[in-house]
Amino acid sequence: MNVLIVGGGGREHAIAYAVSKSPKVDKLYCVPGNAGIAGLAECVDIKVMEFEEVARFAKKIKADLVIVGPDDPLAGGIVDVLEKAGLRVFGPAKNAAILEGSKAFSKDLMKKYNIPTAQYEVFDKAADALKYLDSAKLPIVLKADGLALGKGVLICNTLEEARTGVKEIMLDKKFGTAGNKLVIEEYMTGREVSVLTFCDGKTIKVMSSAQDHKRAGDGDTGLNTGGMGTFSPSPFYTKKIDDYCRKNIFKPTVEAMAAEGRPFKGVIFFGLMLTEDGPKVLEYNARFGDPEAQVVLPRMKNDIIDVMEACVDGTLGKIKLEFEDNAAVCVMLASKGYPEKYERGYLIDGLENFDGKDGYYVFHSGTKKKGKGIVTNGGRVLGVTAKGATLREARENAYKATEWISFDNKYFRHDIGKAIDEA
Ligand code: AMP
Ligand code: GLY
Repeated sequence: MNVLIVGGGGREHAIAYAVSKSPKVDKLYCVPGNAGIAGLAECVDIKVMEFEEVARFAKKIKADLVIVGPDDPLAGGIVDVLEKAGLRVFGPAKNAAILEGSKAFSKDLMKKYNIPTAQYEVFDKAADALKYLDSAKLPIVLKADGLALGKGVLICNTLEEARTGVKEIMLDKKFGTAGNKLVIEEYMTGREVSVLTFCDGKTIKVMSSAQDHKRAGDGDTGLNTGGMGTFSPSPFYTKKIDDYCRKNIFKPTVEAMAAEGRPFKGVIFFGLMLTEDGPKVLEYNARFGDPEAQVVLPRMKNDIIDVMEACVDGTLGKIKLEFEDNAAVCVMLASKGYPEKYERGYLIDGLENFDGKDGYYVFHSGTKKKGKGIVTNGGRVLGVTAKGATLREARENAYKATEWISFDNKYFRHDIGKAIDEA
């Protein structure tokens, strides 16, 4: 079959890698892709938000399945446009992608269906939000309602910070229309864990757990980023916690979406906080995590095409998801200055060191071809991933592999997966 992947980051490279292993796939395409994905798929420069162009291209190549990676096109309704053109698509329709696209929607859904999450209020007027802050407990969390490149969440330690945050989001529109509504939420403490799941509208199957490292600097310092590294599985996500989440969070979420007339087909990524009062939902994402996909997918034993087709067809109940009994760690190599100011265009050396090395992967996030070489083309450049029998071994392997790559201004965190030492 012919498969088209929509997106062009490390997550899509990890998806492309998994898809390329399927014996069912004859030809793989990606829009727009990147220099790494180009090793597995024919990449064509069509932007992910140009839905009609993507649909035309998918028809032209006779795509039997289209897989959508990123959040923006999903929230914008790309799946509806592609389906209307007669294509088979893996990913949630617009009315289900709202689970990530609107935090006010997702919080109200959780309240209505008793899914554990932080206490909150939703505001559409800055004056009301500011008044509410006067009697709120600190620290407090502000969340712009819509998508804001992962930057729309502010954790405020003082009333002053919170007041400034409300003004920036709602009045100055720092995140554009994403700030038309604001969620103000109770601050929770605990360990964070990411759980990726497949859904077919009524059934949900859980993949292996993972943990992200969002801050730019070692020891969780510095600014929030798209993710500086991940490990999978999380040793803190025990069988007992998993049982609780399946019963009280995962199943109720899929059933709630179905009950609301918004059946969810695709990946729901649950961002969870393991609090003293039990696991609670921090956020939902309507897609694979980046760089969670880079540590979860290489450990999946199933043919990903079988699983994705079952999600589309509503037959996920028949699939037994299986993961290798090992671990993986991904260290993001970034360009110094990310997530603020950084340069692009540095020549990358050493990519060939990964060729033929079992259990080692280099997923491209921001790269492009230039002449005969490959150059940096983003803040997050490469996700160096390695497997190991244990998390410690995977971490050692991943850090060893970071040395195989060089480019000017290469920057990475040195403590990805360090938390496992406390487990
Ligand atoms: P989100 O985009 O909702 O995942 O938020 C980004 C990050 O902010 C999360 O990964 C948490 O580290 C933090 N965060 C979000 N909501 C809360 C909360 N209610 N309490 C504490 N931290 C939070
Ligand atoms: N790594 C976090 C995310 O994909 O949202």
